[in-house]
Amino acid sequence: EVDADLGRAAGLVREVPDFPEPGVLFRDIGPVLADREAFHSVVDALGRVHAFDVVVGIEARGFLLGAAVAHAHGTGFVGLRKPGKLPVVADRVDYALEYGTAALELPADALIAGQQVLVVDDVLATGGTLAAARQLVDKAGAESVGASLVLELSQLGGRRTVPDWDVRTLFTV
Ligand code: PRP
Repeated sequence: EVDADLGRAAGLVREVPDFPEPGVLFRDIGPVLADREAFHSVVDALGRVHAFDVVVGIEARGFLLGAAVAHAHGTGFVGLRKPGKLPVVADRVDYALEYGTAALELPADALIAGQQVLVVDDVLATGGTLAAARQLVDKAGAESVGASLVLELSQLGGRRTVPDWDVRTLFTV
């Protein structure tokens, strides 16, 4: 039953050619979130990992999934944000994109040293975002026990940016 629902969820990921720019095939998990069984099975699977006591989710779709995982497990939730959104910033990590740079910020008074953190996001592409998230967690003195993501774009090799880390992905293309 669980596997059947997850399989159905995989089929709901929508492929959108030429978004956000020509030549890019965008994978939209929106329809997975909108479907009751798919959403529940994905959230269950994302949280079926070793023990954690806080979830860190990455803007933007990592907020939706991560908060649901946190609620299901009775933990708190910390959102890593793009620059300019947080009123009080504890730390920031800049990272390279294929063209240009990006950054993630950790809010003040969010992570506590020693906490066991599960990082949640929707897609693992080049891995730059996930590596930045791990750095923020580690620099805060928390323990990054692993990461759970819905979809892995294996051709981009994102896993290589976070070696020696338990990164689990539900679907791989
Ligand atoms: C997407 C996705 C991941 C990230 C993965 O976010 O949700 O967070 O890219 O890419 P990477 O592995 O190459 O770093 P996006 O930047 O599109 O932001 P959004 O969720 O706010 O739309």
